[in-house]
Amino acid sequence: MKKLFTLLLLCACFLTPIHADEGMWLPSLIGERIKDMKRKGFKLSAEDIYSINKASMKDAVVQFGGGCTGEFVSKEGLLLTNHHCGYGSIQQLSSVEHDYLTDGFWALSREQELPVPGLTVSLLVKMEDVTERINKGEKAADIAKAAATGEGYRASVEPMYYGNQHFLFVYQTYRDVRLVGAPPSSIGKFGGDTDNWIWPRHTGDFSIFRVYAGEDNQPADYSKDNKPYQPKRHFAVSTKGVKEGDFTMIYGFPGNTQEYVTSDAVEYVAEISDPMKIDLRTQRLDIISAAQAEDVAVRIQYASKHASIANAWKKWQGEVLGLRRLQTVESKKAYETEFAAWAADKPEYKDLLANMSVSYDKAKKEYFVRELFNESLGGIEALSLANSLLTMKSRAKDAEIFAKSAKASHAGFMKNYSVAIDRKIAHAMLAEFLKRMPEGGVPEALTAAIEAKGGVAAYVDYLYDNTKITSPDFDPATLESDPMAELATILTPMRQQIAKVAYRNLSNIPDVEQWYRPYMRALREWDKERAFYPDANFTLRVAYGKVAGYEYADGEYHNPVTSIDGIIAKDDPNIYDYNIPQSLRDIYARKDYGRWASQIGDRESVAVCFLATNHTSGGNSGSPVINGKGELIGINFDRTWRSTMSDIEFDPSICRNISVDIRYVLFVVDRIGGASYLLEEMDLK
Ligand code: ARG
Ligand code: GLU
Repeated sequence: MKKLFTLLLLCACFLTPIHADEGMWLPSLIGERIKDMKRKGFKLSAEDIYSINKASMKDAVVQFGGGCTGEFVSKEGLLLTNHHCGYGSIQQLSSVEHDYLTDGFWALSREQELPVPGLTVSLLVKMEDVTERINKGEKAADIAKAAATGEGYRASVEPMYYGNQHFLFVYQTYRDVRLVGAPPSSIGKFGGDTDNWIWPRHTGDFSIFRVYAGEDNQPADYSKDNKPYQPKRHFAVSTKGVKEGDFTMIYGFPGNTQEYVTSDAVEYVAEISDPMKIDLRTQRLDIISAAQAEDVAVRIQYASKHASIANAWKKWQGEVLGLRRLQTVESKKAYETEFAAWAADKPEYKDLLANMSVSYDKAKKEYFVRELFNESLGGIEALSLANSLLTMKSRAKDAEIFAKSAKASHAGFMKNYSVAIDRKIAHAMLAEFLKRMPEGGVPEALTAAIEAKGGVAAYVDYLYDNTKITSPDFDPATLESDPMAELATILTPMRQQIAKVAYRNLSNIPDVEQWYRPYMRALREWDKERAFYPDANFTLRVAYGKVAGYEYADGEYHNPVTSIDGIIAKDDPNIYDYNIPQSLRDIYARKDYGRWASQIGDRESVAVCFLATNHTSGGNSGSPVINGKGELIGINFDRTWRSTMSDIEFDPSICRNISVDIRYVLFVVDRIGGASYLLEEMDLK
């Protein structure tokens, strides 16, 4: 009897396969996943996630600024996102007298909330499959234009599965967004670049904004008479905490994945592109770090530049390791061999892989030149400045207007600039560019200019000895005769050529992409077992999984939840990234956690960050992390660096996203910020 029972159970399992947590799903099609979600602990319905008829969770999620996600947590337009997403806004509002980055900012009333000029948030009004209309010959631009009918509406038609499907997305953009709260960077950026992409993690990576609207709740320019925007839906906030195995769902705007590319593309990423970019960035970072170690002023000046160079640098290292460990190239090759066997007797598909391979050979060269140009010469700051001033000049109406804006942007540039660093970087990067450029690729005019000065090193010294663009009293009238501008001009044809291959990734070059459309269609016909989802493209997606640790190394398990104890263990007043506010030390000393205390392992503490198995990518920063009941349990802000190959291949055993626990957010607002009144407008559960 028992045996029979086990057998039945086994059969049942085979009939309804439990899918791994891979995938970023289109909200309007989430019905196809809802069974699997429910089995994993989701308690609500597909209509609760996305509905065109009634308010649903999608109305509580926004695209924040250029490339992040945010979520409403009150009916008064209160919005959460990451600290690193709000960073630019916080910096923009800061001054020497009010250093909100260092000290944090807390509006203690609505009047104190600070408008952020230029900051916008976009809400998805609706999405719609328009594949048939496109196939019947309607133009994407016309469909979008016809749909952008309301106040602040913007619409676009986005291809899915390399253009096998097309979806219309209609957004409404609000443009009066105000800063409400931000922790000091010692909390919001705790661990800095050292801990970036790392677990265990202790970063309080959140900031708080409020969206304002006109009288009618519609988008409006800033006015002190505007009212808090009333979202159709906001998230209730769970204070119950998370534990290993709990269901998690992420709702946000992931930017760029390439899950279906062939082995050619993966090989390019893992063996050519990433290693080149890592190598060049290592050189730049070494030069910057050495200068920073010698001079405190330089450390501050280059902190943000260092951070942004290091962010992708670390991510790519994880990606290379991950792809090699998974042997993605080999497994894709095997997959392609099987596919080819299936396609052999299908005229429309049988030559696909061969055609693609030919296209890739050509595209790879073009794309490499673009990447090399950007990573090497693009890292020379004075050259970039010269180039942007030249562009500015060509667009300016007259000399006076140009002089004025050129002076302003030059002054901004000089604020965080060290000519000694830049000269060293220029030496290294120009040499690398020449060395790595494929035969015949170096512009002749560049070779001639270098030869005229007697070699690369002499040429770079000549540039920096004679340019005026790096001195505080630069006169825009002398721009064109400046040596740095001359170099920029020499490179212009190449830059224009490169702009033509400015695609998102290697597989989006039209030459290659033309084959991906039928390939993708063929894959879906052939590989019936596979759960297909469209690659990320900054459109709204749902990912789901569970809170989970993982085996980091043989015998070394990483627990999924960190606590304040870990912050205290890292605390060090002498290390910038780990120097926490005194108030946090005091609270810890008194164990004065109040309602935010919870049992973590064998001790009472406050939870800080947690790991989960959600499939996320860049752009998912700030995304709400939601429990089975649809309540907010955290804010997504990172992945572990060794799992970043999930942009190409997701490995459920190792891929983990990192979120800040919402209870830590509330704790910081309440105990560090003293802004507990903000909690009163949230629905705390
Ligand atoms: N790694 C995260 C992301 O990809 C966070 C970056 C910001 N934080 C930092 N320490 N640089 O964007
Ligand atoms: N920090 C990333 C972002 O800004 C999210 C991390 C990731 O790439 O998953 O979007």
